[in-house]
Amino acid sequence: MKYCASDLSEILLSAEQIDQRVGELAAEITADYSDQEIMIVGVLTGSFVFLADLLRQIDRPCVVDFLAAYSYGTGTNSSGEIRVERDLRVSVVDKDVLVVEDIVDTGLTLSRLIAMLQERGAASVKVCCLLDKPARREVSVQLDYVGFQIPDRFVVGYGLDYDQHYRNLPCVAVLKADKYLTRSTVE
Ligand code: PRP
Repeated sequence: MKYCASDLSEILLSAEQIDQRVGELAAEITADYSDQEIMIVGVLTGSFVFLADLLRQIDRPCVVDFLAAYSYGTGTNSSGEIRVERDLRVSVVDKDVLVVEDIVDTGLTLSRLIAMLQERGAASVKVCCLLDKPARREVSVQLDYVGFQIPDRFVVGYGLDYDQHYRNLPCVAVLKADKYLTRSTVE
């Protein structure tokens, strides 16, 4: 580890493990979309590292666009509200959309995003996520391509952040609790 190793309690996924799995996902996607162009939709911010690596190994015609969208409210209704902070520049109408996410936690963001893309007229909407935390799920959401299922731990790296930091780590690591909990919370 090049830096801030003392902030991390454990390397959950090494850069080599991630690299191998990303290659496998790209091969699956390439095979599944054998006669279609793919519209890849990256969900900012966390997906940008995963998407960049995945994209370069997908051997199909692709259009790439990004959006920043957050679900809000604490309700667990998958048809609830989604706030789009930065919208797509390319229309999804009649496109075969592949949403790329870094992590699926409660599933609220993704379930609402899928509904929005379907309402906008996408021909199909599939999902590829690097990390799946099933223990945290509040709404059911179909994940078509999953890199790794992980336990309910606070992970950073490979695009994932704590307070916008650690996104540049080449691995996925567990952040020490004292880095994200206040002293009063820890005590
Ligand atoms: C993360 C992740 C998903 C969402 C998943 O984004 O990229 O978009 O949370 O959580 P959910 O399944 O509980 O809805 P985050 O809000 O941390 O923003 P970021 O990508 O900008 O770091």
